[in-house]
Amino acid sequence: MIAALAVLGFSVNGYAQSPAQSVWNGAFTAEQAQRGKASYTQACAVCHGPSLGGGDSAPPLSGGVFLNNWNGTTTGSLFERIHDTMPASDPGSLSGKTVADIEAYILQTNGFPAGAVPLPADQQLMTVTKILATKPAG
Ligand code: HEC
Repeated sequence: MIAALAVLGFSVNGYAQSPAQSVWNGAFTAEQAQRGKASYTQACAVCHGPSLGGGDSAPPLSGGVFLNNWNGTTTGSLFERIHDTMPASDPGSLSGKTVADIEAYILQTNGFPAGAVPLPADQQLMTVTKILATKPAG
């Protein structure tokens, strides 16, 4: 069922043509990250810090520790984590689009390049894109 939905989503939205293999291939657009910055400032900065460096009790969302936590997972996993558990003060309150925008901003802040296709606002469409702390050879 989930696989069927994913296939349907791919064809409807046209993401299947050029799925990014990893976040090094450009998994979001610069415009999307810019929108995400505004949403991050509203919904996340109070705990995770204005520039994703972490706060008194919330961990950083950029840098070595964060990338180590997420290395080898997918953008879909990070999407799900944010969508289902954040903001910790009001989990599940953000739309998929807003979560995707914020994730784009997090990826950009961690030094990953923007691309031509936005990060989709649906976790099922993101499972092919790996988060890799180190750029793969080639
Ligand atoms: C009320 C404070 C608070 C707010 C607001 C908040 N967070 Fe968090 N966040 C936390 C805490 C505390 C943790 C660690 C404990 C946990 O996992 O719940 C965390 C953990 C995380 C993690 C896991 C980090 C890792 O290294 O694995 C991510 C990703 C995250 N938050 C993203 C966000 C995003 C994106 C937003 C805004 C939509 C947000 N958070 C808003 C408190 C907050």
